[in-house]
Amino acid sequence: MSDTHATSSTRPTRSLRAISDSGAKRLLIVDDEETIRLALGKFLRSRGYEVLTVDCGPAALEALERQRFMLMLCDVRMPGMSGVEVVTQAAKVDSDMAIMMLTAVNDAPTATEALSHGAMDYLMKPIELEDLNQAVERALHKRDLTIEQRNVERMIREEVALRTEELEKEKAALRTLTISIADSLINAMEAKDIYLRGHSIRVADLGAAIAEEMGLDADTVEQIRVAGHLHDVGKMGIREEILNKPGALTAEEFAHVKEHVRIGMAIIEPLLHLGPVLDYVHDHHENFDGSGYPRGLEGVAISLGGRVLAAADAFDAMRSKRAYRGSMTQADTLAVLRHEAGRKLDARVFDALERVVSRSRALSYLDDTPQ
Ligand SMILES: [Fe+2]
Ligand SMILES: [Fe+2]
Repeated sequence: MSDTHATSSTRPTRSLRAISDSGAKRLLIVDDEETIRLALGKFLRSRGYEVLTVDCGPAALEALERQRFMLMLCDVRMPGMSGVEVVTQAAKVDSDMAIMMLTAVNDAPTATEALSHGAMDYLMKPIELEDLNQAVERALHKRDLTIEQRNVERMIREEVALRTEELEKEKAALRTLTISIADSLINAMEAKDIYLRGHSIRVADLGAAIAEEMGLDADTVEQIRVAGHLHDVGKMGIREEILNKPGALTAEEFAHVKEHVRIGMAIIEPLLHLGPVLDYVHDHHENFDGSGYPRGLEGVAISLGGRVLAAADAFDAMRSKRAYRGSMTQADTLAVLRHEAGRKLDARVFDALERVVSRSRALSYLDDTPQ
């Protein structure tokens, strides 16, 4: 191939478009000096490279828009667009391309500047052809390594993203399954006690809202919601006449009701994927001051989810009608619970509950409707 650019033209000629995109090691030489273009072009072609030469920056950028080059050899000092400008723009067009600067001795600082804009190396004029050959091989090898490394990194990133997405999907499917199983259990249980109807779902929603208000992370919020659905599942093991008893419970009956935590745990314990949800359910009748059950845990020894559920549970129980009493107004309920903040209830949890229920109009209870 002849050096079609040993002319003063700033544009590559039509014949250059014939250069194929297939495997050839294609190089671009940008230099305003014709003798250099001719000499370097001839030498590199003799080494098996496919070479395009242009005499100015704009022509180089135009060539880069049309074709891919493995390497660009670019003069630092040229009339019009400087070598540094060409490098800066060329690196944007094709970030894979290796770039080497051709520089006179007194241009060395400019060549160094070009390095920070994407050039890989620079060669000092007059150029020894053997040095040029080695530098070109080095640059092409480095380019191959960089591309390979980037491909490996991209593959790893894609693999990790894919795995994460799969895991998220599995997690979501498991959560949906757990909630639907929980809801069928809860429906069976709540069917025995008209006063409990809807209690578990309300505790789940209120518990999740409190957790969100406290700034807990999304996973914890969802785990508290699941625990809310499940917290009273053990009540299916409690005798109906006690659940619906209009008067006060005897000590024996109260002890029997307390058993719902143990029974509930026996039901859900095999569901190992529930993780912290199990603790939250276990702790929903623990009191912050240690006076609760089943373990009499105190303060932060009670799981945070357990403390949140305890507050949501107490709020919902007081706001709902029970066999043994009517419902309380929201203001009265909050007054009673405020008194328990720092005692039976975690004060921080109560504060969040108060903020949530005070601004939510959704928390209306059937008993609020005038009858
Ligand atoms: Fe309970
Ligand atoms: Fe409950």
